[in-house]
Amino acid sequence: MKTILVTGGAGFIGSAVVRQFINDTEHRVVNLDKLTYAGNLQSLASVSDNPRYRFEQVDICDATELARVFREHQPDAVMHLAAESHVDRSISGPAAFIQTNIVGTYTLLEAARTHWNTLNAERKAAFRFHHISTDEVYGSLGETGFFTEDMPYEPNSPYSASKASSDHLVRAWHHTYGFPVVTTNCSNNYGPYHFPEKLIPLVILNAVNGKPLPIYGKGDNIRDWLYVDDHARALRLVLEKGKLGETYNIGGWNEKTNLQVVQSICSILDELHPQGAPHNKLITYVTDRPGHDQRYAINANKIARDLGWKPLENFESGLRKTVEWYLSNDAWVKGVTSGEYQNWVQSNYTNRSAA
Ligand code: NAD
Ligand code: TYD
Repeated sequence: MKTILVTGGAGFIGSAVVRQFINDTEHRVVNLDKLTYAGNLQSLASVSDNPRYRFEQVDICDATELARVFREHQPDAVMHLAAESHVDRSISGPAAFIQTNIVGTYTLLEAARTHWNTLNAERKAAFRFHHISTDEVYGSLGETGFFTEDMPYEPNSPYSASKASSDHLVRAWHHTYGFPVVTTNCSNNYGPYHFPEKLIPLVILNAVNGKPLPIYGKGDNIRDWLYVDDHARALRLVLEKGKLGETYNIGGWNEKTNLQVVQSICSILDELHPQGAPHNKLITYVTDRPGHDQRYAINANKIARDLGWKPLENFESGLRKTVEWYLSNDAWVKGVTSGEYQNWVQSNYTNRSAA
């Protein structure tokens, strides 16, 4: 039994990782999360009473508190998911992205390295720092080709630039200090507990509530969608078997235009929630996102070949499961869509006029 320190464990992907560790393994988990607008402990209600689960409300920029957490919990590994994660927010307010994603990752790396240096030889050799990142660091693809691990970084948004910076810091800590790191770069995730500022949950909830479904630009931008539990399984595998200093791309081989995604959600809702059908009448084309990346697509051959991972969920069944989850988890939805989030929605969308 090991102790895994998961940062950002109250977020969308982090909570899936924590739930898997508690439900499917014997490991202990320390969830370290600041609880920003995106962090929600309700996502962990099913595991929070487990004696192998602990929660620490800590900011990854707070070196003193990080030192205390490492001292008290003596983790065997860190999985670093805490981040500001929404591209639109990074455009309207990049400061938090620089602070958490760059300064926070640096502060966490130093706290983890200090802890690592106190371990005995056996624990030191087994220690891992797993940095969780995004495919957006590679920039935007044309009509053909895929992101591979050896591609140059070309981040285009404040979000992806801040994640690229954090990837470089992690790489440098390995090469300079011999710190034992692995990094993963994943495509767009979807599934339950996804904060409804991102495309899929936003469209599901707007459609159910008869609100416009905003499509940026022409809706022909392409994303490569992966079900969140498939990502969480890949992350656990990389933590266990990934080669030190290596990076692994994770993706679903599942490219869709945004318009295809929104149309699919509408069709599922026409069946499961016929009030308001056809839901696609709510589709509204709005002003494009500045610097909007055209296409993301992951080549996931390395993780398949070296570690034997492949996604289990296909997009049709995964999307249906996701819609069903939002339809039957009203309390969770209400919990995350009040207060600060509403203020942000108003200020961000007031000026997005119809294109
Ligand atoms: P999320 O926004 O749902 O959750 C982020 C979590 O980090 C929240 O619980 C938040 O409270 C916490 N957090 C933010 N700032 C913090 C700070 N300063 N200190 C401590 N905790 C803090 O994000 P997500 O979608 O779950 O993404 C998790 C990670 O995976 C991120 O690093 C993101 O870049 C990466 N990623 C996300 C996707 C995706 O499609 N969502 C794809 C690839 C990679
Ligand atoms: P998003 O879920 O924000 O993820 P990312 O920007 O990290 O890929 O957006 C996914 C795609 O959907 C992206 O091309 C932007 C687009 N989009 C819309 O068309 N309308 C929306 O309301 C949102 C939130 C996103």
